[in-house]
Amino acid sequence: MAGMEDPVGRRRPLFCPMTTLLVSPGPLIGRVHVPADKSITHRALLFGAIAEGVSRVRNYLDGGDCRATLSVVRQLGVLVEEPAPGEWRIHGRGLWGLCEPEVVLDCVNSGTTARLLAGLLAGQRFHSVITGSAQLRRRPMARVVEPLRQMGADIAGRQDGRLLPLSVRGRPLHGIEFAMPVASAQVKSCLLLAGLYADGLTVVREPGPARDHTERMLTAMGAPIVRRGSTLISEAPTTPLQPLDLTVPGDFSSAAFLLAAGACVPGSRVTVAEVGVNPTRRGLLDALIAMGAEVALDNWGESGGEPTGDLHVQPAPLRAITLEGDTIVTLIDELPVFAVIATQAHGVTVVRDAAELRVKETDRIATTVEELRKLGARIEATADGFIIEGPTPLRGARVHSHGDHRLAMTLAVAGLMAEGVTAIEEAECIADSFPGFEQVLLRLGARVETTG
Ligand code: S3P
Repeated sequence: MAGMEDPVGRRRPLFCPMTTLLVSPGPLIGRVHVPADKSITHRALLFGAIAEGVSRVRNYLDGGDCRATLSVVRQLGVLVEEPAPGEWRIHGRGLWGLCEPEVVLDCVNSGTTARLLAGLLAGQRFHSVITGSAQLRRRPMARVVEPLRQMGADIAGRQDGRLLPLSVRGRPLHGIEFAMPVASAQVKSCLLLAGLYADGLTVVREPGPARDHTERMLTAMGAPIVRRGSTLISEAPTTPLQPLDLTVPGDFSSAAFLLAAGACVPGSRVTVAEVGVNPTRRGLLDALIAMGAEVALDNWGESGGEPTGDLHVQPAPLRAITLEGDTIVTLIDELPVFAVIATQAHGVTVVRDAAELRVKETDRIATTVEELRKLGARIEATADGFIIEGPTPLRGARVHSHGDHRLAMTLAVAGLMAEGVTAIEEAECIADSFPGFEQVLLRLGARVETTG
C-alpha cells in the first residue's frame, strides 16, 4: 500500500496501486464541495516555511502533489503540525532559517513543487538537490534554470540543467529583468521567490494572465511585490514576512470535471459550493458561457484572499467555439475536459496556442486525443491544440490514464455520457489532485466503482 507519514508518524494510505475506475452513464444531481485548491496549498507550505511565526492553514488539500511539498518543507527543517483534521500549523523559520536538507528533495509528480522550490533554494546559504518521479524527470526545467542562472544561481543538472535532478548550490543572487516566453505561473512564482533573496529589483514580464496566487499571498505576507500592468517587480523584504492565516477555497480545476459533466449529461443538475473563482483560473466558466451552457455563479465570498462562489450547472444545447491567445492560460489544466465538452457541442471547436499542454504530466494533446478517440470522439491533434467535431455520441471502452490525474478524470466525465461501461486503467493517479473523486461522484448519484 502506498502512503506517507502523517505528523505523528502513522502511515496513511493514499491510494491502492493499479486501480481501474468503472464508469456507467448517468446524470449528476446534487450539491457538493470539492477538495481544496492545489496551487494555493503548495504555496501555503512553501511561503509559510519562510514566514516569521506560525501560519494557520485550514482546509488544505491532502493530495499526492501537496504531500510531496509537505515532505520537502519538513526536510528543510520546518515543523508542520496538524492540530485538527484538515488544518496545519506551519512553524515558519524566516527567510534565512531553512536548514540544509540531509536528503534529496523528492517532488514526486509535482511540477509546481520542483519549480517553486528551485526559486526558493537558489539564494540560500546551503546546497540542496531536487528530484522527482520518472514522470516529473521528463518535464522541462530550463524555463526556471536559465533565468535563475541569469540571477547568479549555481545550478547543475541532467542535460545541463534542462531536466531533474538539479543540484542547487545556494549563493548570492541579483535581480534581473525577464520577459517570460510563455505564460507560466510556476516560472513567475519561481522568479518572484528568488527575487526575495536577490540584490536589487527582479522584474518579470508576463505574456498572459497566469494564475496570480503567489502575488496575492506574498503581498498579504508583507513582501514588497508590485504589479504594473503585466509586469511584476519583487525585491528583498526589509521586514520579516508575516505568517499566513487562511482557509483554502475549493479547487476550480477539480470543480471543472463536475461542471463539464453537469453541462453535458442529460438530466444533470449540479452545484459545487465554495469554489475559488479567481479570474486567472476560471477560463472554463467563460468558455461554457460562450458555448451557451446554463451555468450560474452566486453566493460570492472570499477565502484566503481569493474570491469564492457556488457554481451551478445543468445541460443546455452547446455550440462550438474557438479558444486561443490569452484565454488559454486561464484554463490550461481544464483543456482535456474541455475537449469532452466540445464533443457534445454543435460544430467544430478549435483550441490553439496551447502547446504548453505537451509538457504537462503527460503530452496532454497526444494523450487526450488518443484516449477520447477510443470512446468514439471525433478529435484531431494539432501542433498546439485540438480540433473537435460535435455533437458525437460516445461509447464506453477501456481507456488509460497514462498516470495523469487530469486525464483520468477527463475520461471519467466522458464515461458519464458514453453508452456502456468505460474502464479507466491506472486511475489511482486521481489522488494527486482530487482525493475522494469517486465518493463525490457517488454522492451525486453516479454509477462508478473501482476494481483492483
Ligand atoms: C500551476 C501552474 C500551471 C498549472 C499547474 C499548476 C501553479 O503550470 O498547469 O497545474 O500552481 O503554479 P504552468 O506554470 O507550467 O503553466
